[in-house]
Order: sequence, then structure tokens, then C-alpha cells
Amino acid sequence: MMMLFLLFLSLASHASSSKEQHVKSIFILAGQSNMAGRGGVVNDTLTGITTWDGVVPPECLPNKSIFRLSANLTWVEAREPLHADIDVEKTNGIGPGMPFASAILANRASSIGAIGLVPCAIGGTNLSQWERGSFLYRQMIGRAKAALLKVNDNGASMRGLLWYQGESDTTSIEDARSYKARLETFFGDLRLDLQFPMLPIIQVAIASGSGPYIETIREAQMGIDLLNVRTVDAKGLTLEPDRLHLTTPSQVRLGEMLADAYFQLIPSTTSNNARRNGHPCLIIHFVIGLLWTGMTT
Ligand SMILES: *[C@@H]1O[C@H](CO)[C@@H](O)[C@H](O)[C@H]1NC(C)=O
Ligand SMILES: *[C@@H]1O[C@H](CO)[C@@H](O)[C@H](O)[C@H]1NC(C)=O
Ligand SMILES: *[C@@H]1O[C@H](CO)[C@@H](O)[C@H](O)[C@H]1NC(C)=O
Ligand SMILES: *[C@@H]1O[C@H](CO)[C@@H](O)[C@H](O)[C@H]1NC(C)=O
Repeated sequence: MMMLFLLFLSLASHASSSKEQHVKSIFILAGQSNMAGRGGVVNDTLTGITTWDGVVPPECLPNKSIFRLSANLTWVEAREPLHADIDVEKTNGIGPGMPFASAILANRASSIGAIGLVPCAIGGTNLSQWERGSFLYRQMIGRAKAALLKVNDNGASMRGLLWYQGESDTTSIEDARSYKARLETFFGDLRLDLQFPMLPIIQVAIASGSGPYIETIREAQMGIDLLNVRTVDAKGLTLEPDRLHLTTPSQVRLGEMLADAYFQLIPSTTSNNARRNGHPCLIIHFVIGLLWTGMTT
């Protein structure tokens, strides 16, 4: 009887943690509305009420190897709209996260394992709202760290940040002109606080904006010259009638572009990852072990 009970306990605990154990590769998704996803969101111009059309293309369907860190910091099966419980003030639709994860999974050579997406994007936010110390910044770091803690698997690691922001910085020329320096500081701070100096970052050069200085922001984004940062260009992708948000097919395309850019980064990141996530830890354990032995003998 006792044996059966113990067996039951171990099965139960295995069942509740098995999902989390599977997550191997974690990606942060941050920025504003086009990262959160507005594909398929329609605005009734008479009532001003926005609704999502509910259309989920094959590239955005759930897959047992794609998880999402929910607002309550648990891994759940990822499904559209990915930011529904994060960007809660807005109506969310299709974004680039799911098609990105699908494209990464579909690449057999990647051996990336189950993917854990960490949605953090909030519509309408400008870059100063993301700077170090801000609410959004602390929220993002907190979620990223929680994501890493919520994997009971030594092989799991942070693989990168997908960043799509800048539309809200196109309204004033001062904001647009200072954007490049502020963005570099932001990326640097983030890497420092995640203790991952070479964290792969794939950013999107904006296709639209709420103000006139779109080109200034695009030049700033294209001009970022940091190691392990890649830029994919959203210009030319089809926009919703609001001329601000990418359509569902555009988001699918963007997700694939982000995945391609990620694979271009891999040669330099896999070796860094191994070194950073493995050996320093071992060395620290070794040193602590030595100190401990020294103290106790
Ligand atoms: C919807 O359309 C109305 C009228 O054009 C506009 O005032 C409102 O800002 C729009 N809402 C969104 C979320 O785009
Ligand atoms: C956390 O959120 C997920 C997805 O929204 C939900 O299914 C789950 O029940 C929540 N868990 C807790 C402990 O609230
Ligand atoms: C999940 O993704 C893998 C890799 O692309 C694919 O082989 C599989 O068919 C997908 N599963 C579902 C249920 O879509
Ligand atoms: C960013 O947005 C916040 C909140 O809307 C606003 O107070 C601030 O002035 C904006 N900052 C810049 C540099 O545009």
C-alpha cells in the first residue's frame, strides 16, 4: 500500500513538472504593439471597438514543443494571441512569436529542443519607458529570470531577445535623434542584468510609426553596431488599414525572417553559450568547494 502511494506521488510530481522540464531554449519577446501582435485585429470605426478576427495560420498553431511563460509565471502551451495576458489593456492578435518558434522548430539542424517564449511587449510604449529601472524593464528582467528558474533542466538556456519597438519614438525629433544611443544603452544594460554579455538580440527595423521621424529611427536601428545583434527589416511588409500594424501574413513572414537571422547568429552564439552557461558555473562550484573544504578542515 505504501509502495503504491509512493509510486502515485512520484508519478503525480512527474506529471506536474514534466512540461517545465521540457523547455530547453528560452526567448524573450519585447517591444511594443507589433511584437505583442495586432495581426487580424479590426477596428470598428463607428464604435471604436477593436476585435481580433481569430484567424490562426498554420505557422501559428500550438505545438507540444512550444511553451509560453504566462503572466503568473508558469509554463503553459503557447497559443495565439501570445500576449493576451501581458498586454492586457489592448486587443491582441497575431504577432511574430509563434511563427518564429515554428520556424526554429522546423529546422532539424538546430537541435534546439522545446522552446519557451517569454512575452513582455506592451503596445504604445516608447524607449524611455523601457530604460533600466523602469517598470517595464524590471518586469522583463523578472520574467526572464523566472523563466530560467522554472526549468528543471540543466541543459536549458536563454537563447535570445526578439525586440520590435520604435514606432512611439517617431513623434519628436529629439527622441528620434537620441534613439541610437538610448537603444545601445538599453541592450547593454539588459545583457549586464541577465549576466549574458553576448545575449543574441534580433531587432526589427520599423515599418511604420505614430509620427513623422520613421526614417530617423530606422537609421538608428540599422546603425547599431554591437556584437551578436542582428536587424531584420519590416519595411515593405503589408500593414493593417490603420497603417501602423503588421497584418497576420506579414507577422508570419516576419517570424520566419527573425528565425533566419537567428540561425545566422548561431555559429558565434553556441560556443559562447556553452562557455558561459556551463564552465563558469563549474569553476564557481569548484572554488566554493575548495573554500568550503578549507574552512571545515
Ligand atoms: C479605432 O478607430 C477609431 C476611429 O477611427 C479611433 O479613434 C481609435 O483610436 C481606433 N482604435 C484603435 C485601437 O486603433
Ligand atoms: C496561470 O495561468 C495559466 C494560463 O493563463 C492558467 O492556465 C493557470 O491556471 C494559472 N495558474 C495559477 C496557479 O493561477
Ligand atoms: C510541431 O513542430 C514539429 C517541428 O516543426 C512538427 O514536426 C510537428 O508536426 C508539429 N506538431 C504539430 C502538432 O503541429
Ligand atoms: C514616453 O512615454 C511616456 C508615457 O507616455 C511619456 O511620459 C514620456 O514623455 C515619453 N518619453 C519620450 C522621450 O518620448
